[in-house]
Order: sequence, then structure tokens, then C-alpha cells
Amino acid sequence: MTPEDAVVDLRSDTVTLPTEEMLEAIKQAKLGDDVYGEDPTVLRLEEMAAQKMGKEAALLVTSGTQANLVSTMSNTKRGDSVILEAESHVYWYEVGGISTIGGVLPWPVRGNRGALDPADVEAAIRPKNIHFPDATLVCIENTHNRAGGTVITPAQIGVLGEVVHSHGLKFYMDGARIFNAAVALGVDVKEFTKSVDNLMFCLSKGLSCPVGSLVVGDADFVGRARKYRKMLGGGMRQAGIIAAPGIVALEKMIGRLADDHDNAKLLALGLAKVDGIEVDLGAVQTNMVAFSVRGLEITADQFVARAKEKGVLCGTVDAFRVRMVTHRGIEKADIEKTLQRIQDMTRGR
Ligand SMILES: Cc1ncc(COP(=O)(O)O)c(C=O)c1O
Repeated sequence: MTPEDAVVDLRSDTVTLPTEEMLEAIKQAKLGDDVYGEDPTVLRLEEMAAQKMGKEAALLVTSGTQANLVSTMSNTKRGDSVILEAESHVYWYEVGGISTIGGVLPWPVRGNRGALDPADVEAAIRPKNIHFPDATLVCIENTHNRAGGTVITPAQIGVLGEVVHSHGLKFYMDGARIFNAAVALGVDVKEFTKSVDNLMFCLSKGLSCPVGSLVVGDADFVGRARKYRKMLGGGMRQAGIIAAPGIVALEKMIGRLADDHDNAKLLALGLAKVDGIEVDLGAVQTNMVAFSVRGLEITADQFVARAKEKGVLCGTVDAFRVRMVTHRGIEKADIEKTLQRIQDMTRGR
């Protein structure tokens, strides 16, 4: 637990620091030149990741953004179009890399709590025509960040996958927080991966690693991704120092995500009781809480600034919505402290 007056940092699960065991694993890691395919620790992590996801191969990359970019490039050719959710991270927060570097046209389709309706996707797949770019890829996000950490269920993925594949498109999942989804539903992560062709997941969010994401899929796809990673300057040498904590994460850090989910629920229930704050409790499914501050007659930016003065760090989703994220290092007492501070902050308005 943090001291009584300490700042509670709920901006993102990316602020987590590595555990002692991770730091020790870094120290002990056997290393080699990974561009030559000779780093045993990287090879082991990639094998573990592929096996956990039920796919042939995996590739360690520097970040979630790089994972989405090399995956998009490996699933498409320049001039294609990619159907993705209109609020997705790839569309909003990745500097337009799939267009500027990958050369593809994003074709956004709005989902419901982050989930794409298969009928909407089918309607967005335009036929081959001299005027249209070829639609070759559908991308989903799970859990869905801007929707507030919502889970796209294996059943939803399965139905959508049938539509995508019946039109001959590839199906990719930005699974930055896919283990949060698996833990939330209490099912094996393979339930989420079996209907997609390939995916990525992040080590550096709730799993607490300092760096890294993995791209996972069949061997040909991962081979192409490896080459694009090199092109983008992501060919790392003794990358075992990044892979070593990743191995610890996959072995030991998944189950504890349930604590983050419990804390997020506690936070959401408390916030829902604050006059002027509105929380869609049904959307609080994992480690995020998104809520409207419109009823407080302030903007999300103003809320974030005032909360900071009170010792609570959070972020904005849009003009009137704020997001708080739970993670390792945030405990029940920190949630209680946060609720107290937010109550104090809003009471005198
Ligand atoms: C859903 C999703 N995808 C991709 C990313 C990008 O990850 P990174 O910050 O490692 O580039 C994030 C980051 O928060 C994310 O939430």
C-alpha cells in the first residue's frame, strides 16, 4: 500500500514497474544476437508465446504500436484497405502509421462497446471494383481500450471470423490486453485466438514488464513480420534482457490481473455514487473505468487537472469522459483513497 498522502497513479497500466523477480531474471538471462536468431531467452519467450496462443510462431517487438504496424504490413499489400473499429487504438493513437508507413487505407466501422457487428463488417467489405482499394484485413481490439476495457467474447470473435473468412479476408486481433479478457471470462486465452489468423499482445501493460509485445501467427506471417520489424529498426541484438521479464510475466503475472479487475469494479461502484459522475457499470469488465463528468459541469481536462491537485492521476477519453486504469501497485486502500479524494474534490463545486 502507498503512504497516506501519496499520489495514486491511475493513468494507465503501462506505468507498472518490473517486479524484483523480473529484474533478477534480466540479470541472469542468457543472451545472444537476436538478429542472427541466437538469443536463447528471446527464442524461449517466442516459443512460449506461440504455444500459449495456439499458433505456430511468435516475434518479440518493441511495443504494441510496432506490433500493430508490422502485423498490418504482413497481412496486406500497399494500396489495400483495412476494416477496423472506429474507436480502435490503431486508428486513434498510432500516428497513422498503417497509412504513412504501411500504405493502407483504414476503413473504420463503429462497434458497440468495441465489438464490431458482423453485418456492419460484411457491408463494409466492398466488392472488387476498379474504383476501390482491395479490402484484405479486418482488425479487432480486445480488450477494447476506448470502450473502457470491454471484452470481445470468443463467441463474438467466432461469428465475425466466419464472415471475414467467407470473404477471403485476413482476421487480426490487437490483443494488447488479451489476458485481461481471458481472466475476466475465466477461460483459456486460446478461446480468443482460435478464430483469428494472427494477433499481438503486450507484456508492458498489466503484465508489468518494462518493454515489449509479441506478434503471433503462422510461420510465414511471423517471417514477414520479422523482416518488417528489421526495416523499422526493431531488430534488437541482446534482446534477452527484454524477453527475460516476459517469461516471468507469462509464467506468473497473468492470474493476478483478477485483482486489478476487482479494484476497477470497486472504483466504478464508488464513482457511480458521486453526484455528477456517470459510469456505465456494464462496461466495467476488466481493469478500466471510463466515466462521464458532464454532470459536474466541467470538461474531462478540467477534471483531470483538479484530480491531479488532489493527488489522483487519470486521463481523458474525450471532451467529457475520464478514464482510470487499475494495475499492479494499486491496492484496495488506494481505491478508497481515490474515492475519498474525488468526493472531496466534487463536494465543494
Ligand atoms: C489496445 C492497444 N493497442 C495498442 C497499444 C500500443 O501499445 P504501446 O504503447 O506499447 O505502443 C495500446 C497502448 O495502450 C493499446 O491500449
